[in-house]
Amino acid sequence: MDEKLGTISPDVYGHFVEHLGGVVYDGIWVGENSRVPNVGGVRRAIIDHLKRVKPSVIRYPGGCFADSYDWRDGVGPRARRPRRPNFWGGTESNQFGTNEFMRFCQLTGAQPYMAANLRGLPAQTFYEWVDYCNAPAGATTLADLRATGEAASREPFGVRFWGVGNESWGCGGNFTPEEYTMEFRRFTASVPGHGINPLFIAAGPGSGDTNWTRGFFSKMAEKKHFGFYGWGLHHYSWNLSRGATDDWDKGKGDALKFDTEEWYEMLRQADQMDRHVKETWALMGEYDREHRVKLVVDEWGAWYRPGTELGKRYILTQAQTLRDGLVSGITLDTFNRHPDKVLMGNVAQLVNCLHSLFLAAEDKFVATPNFHVFEMYAPHQGAQSLRTIFEAPEFTHPRAGKTATFWALNGSASLAGGTVTLTVVNPHATEPREAAVSVRGASVKSARVKVLTAADIHAQNTFENPRGVVPRDEVEVAPRGASLLFRFPPASVTRLQLSV
Ligand code: AHR
Repeated sequence: MDEKLGTISPDVYGHFVEHLGGVVYDGIWVGENSRVPNVGGVRRAIIDHLKRVKPSVIRYPGGCFADSYDWRDGVGPRARRPRRPNFWGGTESNQFGTNEFMRFCQLTGAQPYMAANLRGLPAQTFYEWVDYCNAPAGATTLADLRATGEAASREPFGVRFWGVGNESWGCGGNFTPEEYTMEFRRFTASVPGHGINPLFIAAGPGSGDTNWTRGFFSKMAEKKHFGFYGWGLHHYSWNLSRGATDDWDKGKGDALKFDTEEWYEMLRQADQMDRHVKETWALMGEYDREHRVKLVVDEWGAWYRPGTELGKRYILTQAQTLRDGLVSGITLDTFNRHPDKVLMGNVAQLVNCLHSLFLAAEDKFVATPNFHVFEMYAPHQGAQSLRTIFEAPEFTHPRAGKTATFWALNGSASLAGGTVTLTVVNPHATEPREAAVSVRGASVKSARVKVLTAADIHAQNTFENPRGVVPRDEVEVAPRGASLLFRFPPASVTRLQLSV
């Protein structure tokens, strides 16, 4: 308890919503006249569930979509909004735009994090979006426009977080780091503040692309320009299926059909987040020596090949199993262990997409194992991260015709009030781990324990069986002396709340 690492930013428990497949339309927006219960057109079930995980921040409107989106299409009276081609295919109706998204944030208690179009629009259009969102009522023409249409708002939205492009090394324009640096400077040079200090987030690397980070930071160092908020790292976990081809999708593993080797491979991929955070941070520090810029992991999650979508229009939707729950636990624990480095995380994506917390189709709705892990981990938000040491022998498992080792237990701990929250992942597919838990500098008075696991590692929650993977009822566990003995079930995520 005496080694505090810093405050865990609540924003590392953030989300991501893109105009993609069934994320916005059906997932969130059902429309005011829908028979699906809604609040001003927003699906009521998602509001109610999201509030339970304290969403903190939501990134919008993309992703790749952001760099093809004109915010002006999605404001004003809905009947007058244009229909456009959507980056991901089909037609974008623009019935859900800036005001509807802000309403969604207000209903769930989240802050907005807006991603600007750097590839397709001039910087001026970005300044105007900021003006539209943040100008005081009546102050500018765009503030007046904000107060029109069905989700009208006289009150400014007070948006602080602004992303400048997305994956600018790829779908966001195929820039070189040098080119992107120039664009970033231009976009952030003179943005109307309206009393709010905009916090800019630059489009960072995919996983461990050190060239992108080095290229950007070395160029920014020439102007000593480190007065921006975040560097947006993306890390997706995909394990190549055996016999993989080079084909982008066929090479990925299946969301539901996997053996234990693929189980460990996916968890190993998720565990790479720790390395990417440390390596990217070290590289940033070579140029930004005071580490003024922090990490924003604004896309993360497991990504499988197509095949488990809810239907044709729900592209990139995938089934979520217990394995994905462990990916969530491993990733959130990683963020908790680096409170000095990671200030925001946005799981990709909230509903009907890759690593979703929810699946929704018309009047059907279900929470996935990821939702349950986010809810279990919520007490970490804003708490003091504590250094946590796990001492357990590694185990071996087959990997690509050889053997590999994996840690036996890992996790994170934090302190808020007199309670230590310890979250632990046991990655072993079949073996439990018994461990003594002690808190240095304090003794454990009482403990409440909640476990998420299932008898089958392929277990999932479906519309027909929404309780395939749900946390067991919380139980009291009596400490023995100053510590606690606990048997962590195989393939599990556990939360211990220790009164100390
Ligand atoms: O989350 C889906 C897509 O993955 C995003 O649009 C893009 O940024 C990333 O490649």
